[in-house]
Amino acid sequence: MEIVAGQHLDDYQITGQIGRGGMGTVYRATQLSNGRDVAIKMLALAQLPASSNPLDRFYREVKIIAQLQHAHIVPVLHFGEIEGNPYIVMPYLGRGSLLDRLKHGAMPLKDTLEIARQIASALQYAHDRDVVHRDIKPSNVLFDDIDNVYLADFGLAKALGSKPITASGSLIGTPEYMAPDWANGGGSTQTADLYALGVMIYHMLAGQPPYKAATTMELIRAHVASPVPNLTTTRPDIPFGVAAVVQRAMAKYPSQRYGTAQEVVVALENAMKNPNTSEKASRLYMPNSWAYYAMTAIKHAVGANQIETLLTRAGLPNYILQDPPDNIQREFPFDQSAQLFRTFQEVFGKRSTQALGRHAGDLSQQAAVRKPDRAAKITTAILSTVPHEERLRFGLETLANMYSVISDLRVIIEEDQRSCFWRMETCHVCNGWHADEPVCYYFAGWLEAMVYWMTGERLPNVTEITCMAKGDAACIFAIEKPEQADQRT
Ligand SMILES: Nc1ncnc2c1ncn2[C@@H]1O[C@H](COP(=O)(O)OP(=O)(O)OP(=O)(O)O)[C@@H](O)[C@H]1O
Ligand SMILES: [Mg+2]
Repeated sequence: MEIVAGQHLDDYQITGQIGRGGMGTVYRATQLSNGRDVAIKMLALAQLPASSNPLDRFYREVKIIAQLQHAHIVPVLHFGEIEGNPYIVMPYLGRGSLLDRLKHGAMPLKDTLEIARQIASALQYAHDRDVVHRDIKPSNVLFDDIDNVYLADFGLAKALGSKPITASGSLIGTPEYMAPDWANGGGSTQTADLYALGVMIYHMLAGQPPYKAATTMELIRAHVASPVPNLTTTRPDIPFGVAAVVQRAMAKYPSQRYGTAQEVVVALENAMKNPNTSEKASRLYMPNSWAYYAMTAIKHAVGANQIETLLTRAGLPNYILQDPPDNIQREFPFDQSAQLFRTFQEVFGKRSTQALGRHAGDLSQQAAVRKPDRAAKITTAILSTVPHEERLRFGLETLANMYSVISDLRVIIEEDQRSCFWRMETCHVCNGWHADEPVCYYFAGWLEAMVYWMTGERLPNVTEITCMAKGDAACIFAIEKPEQADQRT
């Protein structure tokens, strides 16, 4: 319904139109009884079956929203209907929206944190009361005269009965911030709110949303299948840890995101305080070189023609097919590589996953030492000074030392009669972050290839003994001693 300046609506006199969104039109007005400056949002009800009364639902939901009282939530002052059209009245916030500010480009880290902190406290408050926002995006973040931040349009999508994707396939709201959680009903959960918060933080830091596409469907697909672009490439001044927090907030699988809005902010604060910690970041990416050998090994195993089938089965259509080292942005997010191994294991079994790791390990060794036979001579020369029965331990310790020089991985080598043990108290395989059996099998294979190369002995037999992701104190892989294997055969 059209409303014009000067018109009266209950106790309000309209002074002008502010703007129009997907769910209605916002007017500026004066509350006549007290002279207060307000904003009135006239809403458009979603198309619903004739049997249901959309206004009933509107009142039910708006009552819940109106109970939210928080310093960073735009309060609902009053709501009602006029000629069957519902409206809500809220305070007028005259300093524009976050979207307006983002039109000028990226924001400083400090401002981003401050805005994220206020939005997160509002979200946490609502989530604690089982209220989901459903439409977190910069145009719903408003500023007051002293730059306090307010979250607007809480739960309105639900009150209006609009689903992120309607039965006819059309989309309500903007897909730029929409989580890929279609299985759970799209953007209607707390975790989808948190994903959108992650996207918004990304937008503030990068000056643009993470994904752009010509069509809505392509945009949705990007949220589902494209890795989060690396923020540190767009913004070299951003600490790696901060980029990693955004990565995790935007993880494809809800289980891999932060659990609460508060956690997102705490993680952001920590990452800013300790800009040099890469600990969090290493949880999220498989290094490029690893991804490269993993992908190449998978290609060799399934054949170049089948790789796309495997990616599709893994739910990673259009995922990285180029070789990662060509482009530093093509790091494999951990959750996606883990998903690939999981799918590989579903199809080919555990032993094949281990063999895959072995092959990837071989590939990396071949590449690291361009002349394998010369390397073999060096290894043999070194090993010739080491008694036969000590070679395994010697090789493992050399390998562990090498890792400690080139990375922050600390490995303790232990030994009993039958085996040597590769013990990690911080696990770099999946970093205790996500129990992922296929990743362990893959790593066991990788270790087999490494040990083979380091000892010049036969291919060892590696098994996982304990796993931090499964609740153990350390990750331990056992490497069977060659004598034991001899006895077995
Ligand atoms: N309380 C308010 N005070 C001042 N301006 C407001 C207020 N609420 C909304 N606006 C502004 O009115 C315009 C329209 O808002 P509206 O919420 O309808 O659209 P939107 O947020 O872009 O999309 P959506 O309908 O999905 O929320 C926006 O520019 C918004 O910043
Ligand atoms: Mg809005």
